[in-house]
Amino acid sequence: MLGRVLCAALFVGALQSLAKASQGHISVVLLGATGDLAKKYLWQGLFQLYMDQVSNGHSFTFHGAALTAQEPGERLMFEVLKKLSCPPDEAPNRCAVLKDQFLKLSQYHQLSSAENYTALSREIEALLRQEGLKEAGRIFYFSVPPFAYTEIARHINSSCRPPPGAWLRVVLEKPFGHDLESAQQLAAELTGFFREEEMYRVDHYLGKQAVAHILPFRDQNRQFLDPIWNRHHVERVEVVLKETVDAKGRTSFYEQYGVIRDVLQNHLTEALMFLIMELPANVSRAEEVLQHKLQSFQSLWGLEKNSAVLGQYQAYASQAQEELQQAQDYVSTTPTFAGVLIRSDSLRWEGVPFLLTSGKALDERVGYARVLFKNRAYCTQSETLRDAGHSQCKAKQIIFYFGHGALNTPAVLVSRNLFRPVMPKDSWKEAVARSDLHIFGQPLSDYYVYSPVKERDAYSVLISNIYHGRKDFFITTENLLASWGFWTPLLDSISHQPLRLYPGGVENQHLLDFEMVSGGLAFTLAEPAELLNPTRHMPSDYKAIQSKYRQSPLVSAWSEDLISQLASDMEEAAVRSVARSGQFHLALSGGSSPVILFQRLARHHYGFPWKHTHIWLVDERCVPLTDSESNFFSLHSHLLQSVRVPYFNIHPMPVHLNRRLCVEEDRGTELYAKDIVALVANASFDLVLLGVGTDGHTASLFPRSENGLEGAPTVVLTESPVKPHQRMSLSLPLINRARQVFVLVLGKGKHDITTLLSRVGHEPTKWPISGVSPSSGQLVWYVDYEALLG
Ligand code: BG6
Repeated sequence: MLGRVLCAALFVGALQSLAKASQGHISVVLLGATGDLAKKYLWQGLFQLYMDQVSNGHSFTFHGAALTAQEPGERLMFEVLKKLSCPPDEAPNRCAVLKDQFLKLSQYHQLSSAENYTALSREIEALLRQEGLKEAGRIFYFSVPPFAYTEIARHINSSCRPPPGAWLRVVLEKPFGHDLESAQQLAAELTGFFREEEMYRVDHYLGKQAVAHILPFRDQNRQFLDPIWNRHHVERVEVVLKETVDAKGRTSFYEQYGVIRDVLQNHLTEALMFLIMELPANVSRAEEVLQHKLQSFQSLWGLEKNSAVLGQYQAYASQAQEELQQAQDYVSTTPTFAGVLIRSDSLRWEGVPFLLTSGKALDERVGYARVLFKNRAYCTQSETLRDAGHSQCKAKQIIFYFGHGALNTPAVLVSRNLFRPVMPKDSWKEAVARSDLHIFGQPLSDYYVYSPVKERDAYSVLISNIYHGRKDFFITTENLLASWGFWTPLLDSISHQPLRLYPGGVENQHLLDFEMVSGGLAFTLAEPAELLNPTRHMPSDYKAIQSKYRQSPLVSAWSEDLISQLASDMEEAAVRSVARSGQFHLALSGGSSPVILFQRLARHHYGFPWKHTHIWLVDERCVPLTDSESNFFSLHSHLLQSVRVPYFNIHPMPVHLNRRLCVEEDRGTELYAKDIVALVANASFDLVLLGVGTDGHTASLFPRSENGLEGAPTVVLTESPVKPHQRMSLSLPLINRARQVFVLVLGKGKHDITTLLSRVGHEPTKWPISGVSPSSGQLVWYVDYEALLG
């Protein structure tokens, strides 16, 4: 108790001596003040803030908080504070004085109940009143596990907000959810307590000097980069974080997250975004940067299972088993290594591979973002001459080196045969080029090398940016959700994926090398000795089951294998048809199931005779074609814009005529039917792709539909029970004239209808799909395991 009184007295005294200079007071509350992150980085960052800002007008107090009771908590916290170090560029005497002040301005609080928060707020107010200080703002740094966020947020919002006129900044540490849904939920909860501008979500990579300099570098070197920062010049982009440490001691966290959630979804993605986003006119305007970043996310292709290679270091499972007290035969499916291939369909980057890689227990600790340029020169000189000077034949690259590795400092490297970059002299200095060091196959002397004038820890940079209110260094809610939206489908699809086991360290040798093959990634060395395959009891030993469903052929597999089989079968049908008649008339359905099929066709089927293919729509929603609900819109975004179907071979349904939608008098259905008759021999499509709704509908033919289930082979207007209600559709008799009909059924949600349909006969008014029965063609069912087996 005496300690506390003494501490409080020192605290007030220290504040008094500084009050005269103050333009306002800032209280920093560090929640989790005795935890690991606080010990390693945060207190040091706060001390740095104090050293940098002490003479700039604001006064400060620092309030460490935790659940631990007052006395032990205080003791623990001050043990950490006493060990704070002075930066090498700080005069030792000044630093010692400032450290003494910093300690006196710091206080410990046990914050475990609503009352504790109210008391803290009152203490701050009373202190400032007593010293005649105006409150400028409060910073609450959440260095606590995410399950504690909501409770703390509630307390701050209800009893610890600063008075009007002063700002509140809450700083949040990852993880911010483990997939899109949980991130949305957490974001929604926090939005109930704080305004967007009050939240500072930390990704400490944005505080790393080399990462933070990517956008300014691109901005200051526009003259050199504008002509070459695109698919015509860039060979590939790599963002890499290799670590030698493993996950020991952290498996309770790591087991739930794994390497993709831990570092790819956040750190590496953010660095990639800085490299590939369109450059805003003003790179320090947070809002502009955010908008460009969000556009970049939208341009990325969805990730598929084969976009990633995954591994796990051998000791991981037993570490997890021990730390989590699991049974001896515990099998972990958590990846500790991942390589992921990302692609964009933007005009700038189409075709350029972006490789993201990270792993624990690797041979070295290093992080970098590297842009490798294509080499367009042919050099006639012999090798000795070629290697002298800065020949155009040498590799051309720009590297943002995050730190560690051979250089052991953050750096920006530009190949000398590219250009001499413009760098801000006050913060980056040119380093002496040593030729004994090699970076990416070239001696260091082949590069212009710059390193920071003053090396700063990421957390110090971020804490300073929180103080300055620089939101461009933090992750907004929209940014976070865009990133989770991008990564979640991959995370879902790889939960059964086999992991390659690796021994760790240099012994990994070439085991984890991977390469780009058929649109995805694969390990370069064939299956080695040990593989961890969590699905070994599943029917994965054969890729697709062939059998019968409703008396027609059935192909069944896990969804990705099924889609790849279906896409190949479609290509085969197209090739056959073109060989036979010179054309291929393909009618495609809308909805969500075919999207991955469209994407697959767009990316993997370079032999598809698109030039001779006519694309028709099976059905359409009565909305403009540019509406995102339109089937044509989806077909266009996922397939048509990526393949070369001649413009005059594309036949959207005419739902939008005379500036109105699906009005009978406009005769859109007749127009479409006429087109079909005019172009498709015998009105018999070569291939019709259908889906099935949970109510048994197919195309836009719904149970008890008045039109289209029988009668003439024609095109009809129908009504859907769900929005948008009005639809246009091929009729069943027209569908049944096709040479081939493929029905695609995906997902658990379709299990009930799949089971039901396996038992019923021909009853199209109840289940329109049961009326699909090509009169002289073939029907094939493509049903994934989830729909088939539930
Ligand atoms: C953290 C991850 O966010 O970043 C750790 O949780 C990882 O697993 C660390 O080791 C890497 O950061 P740095 O700054 O050491 O490269």
